[in-house]
Amino acid sequence: MDKYTLCAEDFSLDNQELLLGETLFHNANGYLGVRGCFEEGYPQGFSQVRGTYINGFYDFAYMGQAEKLHGLVEEKQTILNVADTQTITLKLEGETFSMFEGTVMKSRRVLDMRKGITLREIWWESPGGRQVRIKITRMASFVDTSLFLVRYELEPLNFDGTAELSSVHKGDVKNFFDPNDPRVAGEEIQHILIGETWEDGGASYILSNTSKSGKTVCSAVKNAAEEPEQVEAHGLSLEKGLARETFRVKLVRGKCFRLLKYTVLCDSCHFADPAGQAKEKLEALTAQPAKALYEGQERYLDAFWDTCEIDVNGDGELNRALTYNVYQLLQSVTKDRYGNIAAKGLSGEGYEGHYFWDTEMYILPFFTLTNREIARNLIGYRYQILENARENARQMGHKQGALYPWRTIMGSECSGYFPSGTAAYHISGDVAYSVVAYYLASGDLEFMEQCGAEIVVETARLWMDLGCWYQGKFHINEVTGPDEYTCMVNNNYYTNALAKYNLIWAAKLYGRLKEAGKADGLAERTGLTDGEAEAFVKTAEAVFLPYDEELGINPQDDSFLQKKLWDVSAIPEEDKPLLLHHHPLELYRYQVCKQADTVLAHFILEGEEALETIRKSYAYYEKVTTHDSSLSSCIFSLMAARLGMVEKAYGYFGDSAKMDLYNAHKNTKDGIHTANMGGSYMGIVYGFGGLRIREQGLSLRPCLPKQWEGYHFRFLYEDSVIEVRISRETCAVTLLRGTEKEIVIYDRPYVLRDRIEIPMEQGAGE
Ligand code: BGC
Repeated sequence: MDKYTLCAEDFSLDNQELLLGETLFHNANGYLGVRGCFEEGYPQGFSQVRGTYINGFYDFAYMGQAEKLHGLVEEKQTILNVADTQTITLKLEGETFSMFEGTVMKSRRVLDMRKGITLREIWWESPGGRQVRIKITRMASFVDTSLFLVRYELEPLNFDGTAELSSVHKGDVKNFFDPNDPRVAGEEIQHILIGETWEDGGASYILSNTSKSGKTVCSAVKNAAEEPEQVEAHGLSLEKGLARETFRVKLVRGKCFRLLKYTVLCDSCHFADPAGQAKEKLEALTAQPAKALYEGQERYLDAFWDTCEIDVNGDGELNRALTYNVYQLLQSVTKDRYGNIAAKGLSGEGYEGHYFWDTEMYILPFFTLTNREIARNLIGYRYQILENARENARQMGHKQGALYPWRTIMGSECSGYFPSGTAAYHISGDVAYSVVAYYLASGDLEFMEQCGAEIVVETARLWMDLGCWYQGKFHINEVTGPDEYTCMVNNNYYTNALAKYNLIWAAKLYGRLKEAGKADGLAERTGLTDGEAEAFVKTAEAVFLPYDEELGINPQDDSFLQKKLWDVSAIPEEDKPLLLHHHPLELYRYQVCKQADTVLAHFILEGEEALETIRKSYAYYEKVTTHDSSLSSCIFSLMAARLGMVEKAYGYFGDSAKMDLYNAHKNTKDGIHTANMGGSYMGIVYGFGGLRIREQGLSLRPCLPKQWEGYHFRFLYEDSVIEVRISRETCAVTLLRGTEKEIVIYDRPYVLRDRIEIPMEQGAGE
């Protein structure tokens, strides 16, 4: 089996495993996502999250605060389960197919990442002894992202007879909730209200409205038999919010019957006329042979894999996990500016479809290096919500600047718990950082002129308003850094270092635009002047960055080192993750980190500190970090690689790469961990590959874990596509397309014209 195929043979029917399978085998294309539930459902009493989601399609939900302090958020947005079109039930001569009855002789579930499909194949014997092979193929089309296509194939193995297939389209659906888990919705709410249900041209349509946000969604379903001559009778019945089409089919032993079920989803966040456009699309899609749709999907993926080729040689399982992660990033990411990438992609309801800093710091790097259009869309989304970020800043008492919401769908803050929500001001720095990272990798000054620079200037203004001068230094107080086990602190190193960078780059981008004669738009839209840009630089120079002389490390914040140490090595399994077993205040009083914080700062802003400080800090924070957040191990991996601790890097990398496939955090049933998936990509490219794209240019510092024979990856830099191939002996860098580039490898400068091949260095980074 190649790395593009994930296969579970004779998969378990245990309820927890099924929930996990729903996530792992979900189909998505960045616009819609469908969980991999069984078409025929599970037995009574089994739980399932039978969800279909649209990126950025949301409703509001009341989120009461027991104590109504001024400005606390009382309304959140939540991604919606929009319609169930997964359901297809089967009867063979009156016997209902269920994997929980009769005998499953053989079964397998497959995800094919080159074809962009999943399939479930079952060889089943009914209690009455009828044997059948059922193969169900699902596809969320990347070519027309409104389409979800199911092909249901049926082959009687030992009998002739009749089958009854019933295909259901249900609009009356709800979101999943669990009052005991802070990571999913806590209460049941009827978000979707059925408007109309109708039939047109043999297809069923359901138009629904959201209860509060004023949005609409139309789901359209059409079923078509590929062997119509086998259909003896069929009929479509409709009631409000429900359509059911039944086919009575003549079965002949050894002969296949196939039913195609087309679902088209159009919502009002993306389409001006959801019902009209759903109809147009459905008609156009059903008019072409299904084969063309499958071929289009394959072509799309051929191009995708070609540009973002990444491979580890010598560890098949890990390579598959890495491929899986990259594929999930594509499945999850919006293909336009109306959405973004949710913490769980479109695979589940964990974190309610909210967008976090995960996008900028963990996922955008992948797209910036492989797909500029998607990268621009992600930044474009932040530009679209810039006005909300300005309002959010005013709400928090700032006279100027933009404070991006910690978690959101449509732009306003959704976090009800401000100490680890609104207080995470670093989100604004993260957004600015990602704009600069895009600029450094692409050289796209035009995009900076259109929108990038404005984001960076507005976030810079936030720091100017937030910080205060004390003894000649600029301090930033009462904020929360990435580590959510330490909240509301003064001078969080990560936040301060990022604010400094943000301020410097606001002035730099302004300067570069001015030099190119392109600064007028920015100046007009923001009122930025030379004087303000100078003030940014002056302030940046004075930003206070905590440093402890005795330990030679950067303390996470002003008070971190004063706290008691939590013995992380002694945490019993049943106490993990700490957030589910300890009151936040208890955690805040200890030196214990949920995730990389200062260590992450040292990666993104490496030039800020001496390597020795970075090394000592790494050792210090490693001892107090639980990695309870999925955003942590990848960062510890890539910084270990930077510091020459290749074995350690390898260990953390495995934890990151396999996190969802091995359900390591035990919550993959709620959805994949997209940030970590981007993190595992970074683990290869920035970690082992040691790639950096800084203002000074492009550099590499590759190392190779002893367990692998080699690895390679491709990336875009300015106008070029570059491939890096590492083996035990050599590091080869090839210019696949574009113009020559200067590149520094192991601190030595080269000019990449065609190909450079140099010996690998042992102990790089030490
Ligand atoms: C992490 C955050 C992250 C969020 C969504 C939390 O557990 O601590 O850093 O943004 O999950 O992935």
